[in-house]
Amino acid sequence: MVKLIGSKKIRTAVLISGTGSNLINLIKFSHSKKSPIKIQLVISSNKKAKGINYAKKYRIRNKTFYYGKNINPEKSILKELILNKIDLICLAGFMKILSPNFIKRFKGKILNIHPSLLPKYKGLNTHDRVIKNKEVYSGCTVHLVNSKLDSGKIILQKKVKIRKNDNQLTLKARILKLEHSLYPKAIVKLFGNP
Ligand code: GRF
Repeated sequence: MVKLIGSKKIRTAVLISGTGSNLINLIKFSHSKKSPIKIQLVISSNKKAKGINYAKKYRIRNKTFYYGKNINPEKSILKELILNKIDLICLAGFMKILSPNFIKRFKGKILNIHPSLLPKYKGLNTHDRVIKNKEVYSGCTVHLVNSKLDSGKIILQKKVKIRKNDNQLTLKARILKLEHSLYPKAIVKLFGNP
């Protein structure tokens, strides 16, 4: 695990593919005194990701890497991470699967936020499946990334009760709010305050 040395903040990259509400939340958190991380780099797998605008607004170095049918830009992503001396990767709605080699290179240094109470409901469309299965609770989880999908060590979870009239969208919105408080808490749990 990365250690916080003195007051030096951990050089962090956030990887996104979409809206970036977790990204903006992490950016704001990183500006607070109690944050052990500094966001140096934002990487997107999608040039249309709205989240890139947050990186631009806050003048954070940002790069988009094109994933195609037979194109996996991981090598270039790795180069960029190394160039920027990145010590921690926070996945925040990054919709690409990282290869075991990539994960090995950053072992114990990749965090993800997932919108379910893992180990239940790994993968996509969690809210839809949770509602269809008439679950009583759902929630979100921050976990370390290992080579199995959504299966690494759980750092923190937050649970929410599903309401009778909840649909995918209402549940998603409620859980997203929880995500925004959970991700910073998980980071502080792991690395402490500066
Ligand atoms: C979040 O629900 C997160 O848990 C999942 O992808 C979504 C990303 O949302 N991994 P945003 O782009 O951070 O708004």
